[in-house]
Formats: sequence, structure tokens, C-alpha cells
Amino acid sequence: MTHDLTLPSGRPAAEGLAERAHRDPHRPRFHFTSPGGWLNDPNGLTHWNGVYHLFYQYNPLAPAHHRIHWGHATSTDLVHWTDEPVALVPGTDGPDRDGCWSGVLVDDGGVPTLVYSGRHGDLELPCVARGSADLRYWTKDQANPVITAPPEGLDITAFRDHCVWREGSGEDAVWRQLIGSGIRGVGGTAFLYESDDLRDWRYVGPLLTGDASQKQGELDWTGTMWECVDLFRLGEDEKAGSTDVLVFSAWDEGTTHHPLYWTGHYQGDTFTPTALNRLDYGGRYFYAPQSTRDEHGRRIMFGWLQEGRTDEANAQAGWCGVMSLPRIVTLGADGRLDQAPVPELGLLRREHLRIPAGPLETAYTRLHTVRGDQLDIETTLHLAPGATARLVVRETPDGAERTVVEVSRAHDGSGGTLRLHRESSSLDPTVDTEPRHGELPLDDDGRVDLRVLVDHSALEIFANGRPLTARIYPTRPDEAVGVGIGADGDVTLERFDAWQMASAFTDGPRPLWP
Ligand code: FRU
Repeated sequence: MTHDLTLPSGRPAAEGLAERAHRDPHRPRFHFTSPGGWLNDPNGLTHWNGVYHLFYQYNPLAPAHHRIHWGHATSTDLVHWTDEPVALVPGTDGPDRDGCWSGVLVDDGGVPTLVYSGRHGDLELPCVARGSADLRYWTKDQANPVITAPPEGLDITAFRDHCVWREGSGEDAVWRQLIGSGIRGVGGTAFLYESDDLRDWRYVGPLLTGDASQKQGELDWTGTMWECVDLFRLGEDEKAGSTDVLVFSAWDEGTTHHPLYWTGHYQGDTFTPTALNRLDYGGRYFYAPQSTRDEHGRRIMFGWLQEGRTDEANAQAGWCGVMSLPRIVTLGADGRLDQAPVPELGLLRREHLRIPAGPLETAYTRLHTVRGDQLDIETTLHLAPGATARLVVRETPDGAERTVVEVSRAHDGSGGTLRLHRESSSLDPTVDTEPRHGELPLDDDGRVDLRVLVDHSALEIFANGRPLTARIYPTRPDEAVGVGIGADGDVTLERFDAWQMASAFTDGPRPLWP
């Protein structure tokens, strides 16, 4: 996490934040961002009486992680968002005087109720707030924190973030919650608690504990602390039975590593894991996700797209942090999660551009009809064993800056790889241009359904249901609008459709304190 910032000029960073944010060419226009200042995790996600509520970790005073508030926005279509009054402000005294950290919203017999981590000094403890019927105004409990200390007798690395649900029915119904933590010398964990009233909590025990000595430095290292644990069930109505999913973000000594998930079975007081997987191949560019089941029965997930430029650049820009597009999470035939942006995004599709189907015979062609920095691209490709296909976006006319999405199939035909090359995404040596990659599942036909959403500095890629999220900052953003495709080996293009995407926000700076 970063620290408090002033601009190089010495001006306080809050001055003109929203105006500067609005002018920044790297600011996404159809992803949710805060009006200005800092945004991190999605919080309190809920679909309440037909309205989606997205709360988020917010610092309206500076683009820096400090004294975090809860911002709030609502939507009826998951695409257009209305800024609502800031929901939680750190107290002048009390357990959240240094920040209202991540948490969730639950329906307590009709009363919207937040459970979040109040921060005071280096300590985070669970707090509760009750909401007005419209979820706009929140009253913190006098008795906060509702849990006064982490479980006794354990040497822990941290204790924060909440997943709360109602379990059982009738007389036997109870509240349960998970709090993210880690046991020093062992690994990350999620502590399970139980309550009748969301205020008085009994500690049950660790639901599941990772082994931090395994796979250190690897892309699925589970870290020394689990941030933002999220437990949900998928496939409940299917004959085949259900799978439980435990999502967490692997953290270690202040470094945010990557989001992972266990599939398995939650029963009684334990979670019996089947497999551990990477949730998004972008690593920290899709961090601290939270999900909710909406009124249509869909599992909707948002994550936080961290920045890849310097603290100074963020301070200049007046804003930082992007919310991912909402994704639907389902269980794939292979027992892993499939992810796809919600279909509602189609509301923003404007000019439709197509290129003809057929064999892709060129190593690289710039497309003349498709260009832009707000694009939704959908293509289906077939890769022969050993073949590679490339989709280039945000390319300058001279090709000096370009971002390459690559899908390839192994020579023995067995599996594939999704790769993002950012090495030439920007000529600015201070921005992060590390490549990213992950496993691409392929059938015998080598079919790849590829979706690429470009929104200025935000990039979300979905290849056969596997996401890779990242940030890119070309130094000539107005010129970096080229799109192209190419192949090595035998690749057939079954379809290629692209749309210019409209902005989700009406023009002009948004108020920092709606
Ligand atoms: C994850 C996180 C949470 C914490 C919040 C603070 O990004 O560190 O663990 O509650 O952000 O803003």
C-alpha cells in the first residue's frame, strides 16, 4: 500500500482531483472508477430490490491509500452507475478512526447491515453499521468493535475482511462469518465465527489453513495472509451436486500477490479442498474480488484493478484504482470457474465492425476498419497444434507502442497458453510492463473464444472462460488506437466482431462527495 501524497508542486493532492481525473486520457470510461482520489476493493455488493449496490474502499481526499471511507454507487443494469453519498466515514474516535476497511452487506431481517473492518493504529477489528431502507445512510453500532480481539493463543499475521451468510432455517438459523487471517509460520487462513444477532460472535475455528512454505514465488503461492475471503456455492440446483468455492487474495508483508480460489466442499465447520486455482492471470491487477448472488440467481463478481504507474503519476492524475467489469462466475465442466463479463455490457456497444472469416494467413495485419481505445472485441479462432494467434491493441501508427494478446496451442495439441505481452505497451520506463500468462483450456478442435475489452488503461481478456486483467499506459494515448491480428502456424478465424463502446458516465467531473 502507498502512503499519503502531496503533488510535486506542494499543492495538497485533493485540489481539483475530480477535474484532473476527468481529463486524464488513461481514465477508463466504461469501467467504474471513483469520482477522484483513491479506490480499492469492492465492498458490500448486493442486489437489493432490483438495484445493484457497489460500495468500495475510497479516499476522496487524495489518490493514496489513507483513512479509507466507503464510497457507494448504484445501478439497475450493472453498466450505468449513479454516485450515492459516501456511506462510511472513519470516526473521529472509535475503532474505525484510521479507516473503514473491507466488508460486506447482509439483510438482517429487512435491515441492511454492514460488517466491516474498523482500523485503529495497526489493528483491524470487526464493526457493524445499520442502514436506512434506501441503503444511503448508515449508523454505526455504539458497541463497535463487535469482536474485540483476534482468537486467543495464535500468532497471527493480520485479521480483517469479512464474508457473512445466514445458514440453516427456522429456529436453527445462525449467522456465520469468515475473517481473513494468517498463522505465522504456517500460512493464510479464514477464521470461522457464529452469531445469532451479528453482534455477539463465538469463535468456531479456522475453516481452512494454507501452507505458506509451499510454492513460494510461484503464481499460485497462497501467501502468509488471506485477504477478502469469499465463500460461495455453485451448481446448487444441478443433479451433479454442488461445488463450494473459497476465493481469497494472497498477501505477504504488505505485498498484494494474486487472487486464488479453492474448490471443495464446505460442511460443518470445515472446508475440504479439491483443488487450488488462479482466479485471474493478471495477478494483482484483479485483486480483492467480492461476489454476490443477484436476484436472477447469477454469481456476480467484481475485483480491483490496481495501478501499474508510480505513486507520483497517480497523484498527478488525481485518481487511481479501477473496478473490474462485473463478471458472471459459473462452474465449468472441468470443475474450474468460468468467467464472462455480464451480457448487460452490450448496452454500450455502438458501431459494429467485422472482418471476414477464413484462414489467418498473415504474420501480422493492422486492421483499417477497427481502431479505438474503447472497444469490445469478440473473436473465435481455431488453432492447429503448434499454432499461435495474436491480437494487437492500442498500437501507435509506427508500432512503437503496442499490446499483444497471444493464444497458442502446444505442439502435441494437448493444451494452450494465454499470454499478454506488455513489454511494448508503453515507452514510459516507470510503468509496469511485465508480461502475464496462464493456462488456456482447449478442445480437440483448438477452439478459442476470445473476448478483449479495451478501456483506455484498463484491459480485460477472457479466453475460453479464463480471465487475464491488466493495465496499460501508452505514452501517446491518442495515437495508440490501432488494432491488428496475425498468426504463426495454422489458424482459422471463425468470426471477428468488434464494437466501439460508449462511455458509461455522462460527461464532466463527478462530485467527490455526492
Ligand atoms: C485488500 C485490502 C483488505 C483491506 C482493504 C483496505 O486490498 O488490503 O485486506 O480490508 O484492502 O483498504
